[in-house]
Amino acid sequence: MNRNREDRVAIRTADETMLREGSRIFVLALGRDDPAAEDHLFAMSKLLADGGCGHFIGASLGGRMVGYGALVTYEHLGWIAFMGTEPGMQGRGIGSAMLARLMDEARGRGISSLKLDATNAGIKLYAKHGFTEEYPGRRLEIPARCPPPGQPAPKVTLAADLPDWCLVMDRRAFGEDRSKLLKLILRDGGKLLLAGEDGFGVLHGRKLGPLVADGIEPALRILWRAGDLGARVIYVPLHPGMPRAFVEKLRDPEPEGKAVCCVRMAFGEPVDDEYDLVFAAHSAATG
Ligand SMILES: CC(C)(COP(=O)(O)OP(=O)(O)OC[C@H]1O[C@@H](n2cnc3c(N)ncnc32)[C@H](O)[C@@H]1OP(=O)(O)O)[C@@H](O)C(=O)NCCC(=O)NCCS
Repeated sequence: MNRNREDRVAIRTADETMLREGSRIFVLALGRDDPAAEDHLFAMSKLLADGGCGHFIGASLGGRMVGYGALVTYEHLGWIAFMGTEPGMQGRGIGSAMLARLMDEARGRGISSLKLDATNAGIKLYAKHGFTEEYPGRRLEIPARCPPPGQPAPKVTLAADLPDWCLVMDRRAFGEDRSKLLKLILRDGGKLLLAGEDGFGVLHGRKLGPLVADGIEPALRILWRAGDLGARVIYVPLHPGMPRAFVEKLRDPEPEGKAVCCVRMAFGEPVDDEYDLVFAAHSAATG
């Protein structure tokens, strides 16, 4: 029965109307009724699609759009993101069909490695398509008083342009040239924070990420400065190199089960990344 249903799913590249509808579907799929989150996702989708960094698809059943997904592309690495099926339509093979299409698209572009941050709802789907689990991650809250009482103001500068050393450090951290994406985020109002040449962070809206640093000391300086400038949200990958002392400075705002918790998953060629340098990602499955 599933098979017949799968056959009727039509998937196509999303135009602007579909980016808007897809953002609505994705937020609904996450169980939220949140117009501000929809607007944010639409803005992110449009930024990535117009900037040539993201390939977005919509899945329709009986002529109605019911699913959304994207492939964010670098050179050899791709990222699967924004995957969502309308709540009443889940479990009918739509997610599977969308993922297969995005993986085909990646193959066609010569992308040899794929990564993603899976929610609990997505893990089984991705595992079925050959993805393996790496490490978890969690969205946490940055304390309102930054830096904490008694600590000196951190030495961190704001910069308008990305210096070369940032791009080199980012490439070491993620194993791929992400300069196009980073420049897009900065053009979209992201603020670049530099801790000498030992680390950098991007403050985008109320979110701090990515945060890439050579050790906890510059990472904390950037965290405190970003908090002072209004950052409240951070998505922390809990890889084996993440210092506990960094996570302990942050707050878990949501009751267990409601917090945004993801698992990093990978497919294809291993990526030569130095994840120890990564203290925050730009975003997780929730955009
Ligand atoms: C993850 C998601 C996109 C999968 O979409 P989908 O259309 O339901 O996917 P499929 O129907 O192809 O199902 C894929 C697998 O998910 C599991 N699954 C899907 N819906 C399920 C449900 N309601 N209950 C239990 N398992 C379910 C099944 O194990 C299925 O595998 P199977 O074919 O072996 O049974 C969808 O569940 C969703 O939108 N979730 C909420 C948003 C989210 O968390 N997105 C993931 C971001 S990483």
